[in-house]
Amino acid sequence: MRIKKIADLIDLNLGGVYDVGSDHGYLLILLREKNKNIKLMGVENKKEPFNNLSKNVKGKNILISFSDGIDKLDESFSTIVLAGMGYKNIVEIILKHKEKLDYISQIVIDSHTNIDLCRKFFISLGFFIENEVILKEKDIFYEIISFKKGNKNYSEMELHYGPCLLKERNDVFKEKYLKRNKKIETIIPKLNCDSLEYKNFLEEYKLNNEVLK
Ligand SMILES: C[S@@+](CC[C@H](N)C(=O)[O-])C[C@H]1O[C@@H](n2cnc3c(N)ncnc32)[C@H](O)[C@@H]1O
Repeated sequence: MRIKKIADLIDLNLGGVYDVGSDHGYLLILLREKNKNIKLMGVENKKEPFNNLSKNVKGKNILISFSDGIDKLDESFSTIVLAGMGYKNIVEIILKHKEKLDYISQIVIDSHTNIDLCRKFFISLGFFIENEVILKEKDIFYEIISFKKGNKNYSEMELHYGPCLLKERNDVFKEKYLKRNKKIETIIPKLNCDSLEYKNFLEEYKLNNEVLK
């Protein structure tokens, strides 16, 4: 379901798709089924995932590269996908070749950590949030974000919860923050009321309640 949601967010009218960390190549195979002609590249920097990738995409007209991040990205690609990795890795991959973003129109991310910082990072690079999806799979919540080129201002609340997700506030969104607040309820009684940690958790708890109204 997660891979399908990522595929649905990719704008295949823009041009080639460069999937960093393709692993088994499932996303690229799905994209090839959706579009016979678009240029697709799967990148892996680890031997085992690369072997899985090359085996799975064989004969499907999908390019592959054993390389790091966006090292081999060129002008023939318009979309970068960074899915199933953490914030730090995403930032490192992009900052290594920031200049290559000049020819990129869309970036789709599924970060497992610091999703709010991811939003801030890509906005600071001249992208805006075009669309977002939240989903729950095997008891894990995922937020997938599509950024496109352009500038837009966001409130702190929007950066934290996601402007599109906040607007929609669907059942999965509510479930995520209800669960988070249940967890905070078990944490704060153990903390010193004067500590910064306590204040931060309390603030987060209140904000979550605010968006759950
Ligand atoms: C958890 S998997 C996610 C696979 C797939 N993108 C998904 O969303 O299901 C992350 C993959 O990213 C690859 N990876 C991590 N950092 C990378 C980098 N700098 N360059 C290329 N691949 C990378 C890892 O080898 C791993 O196979």
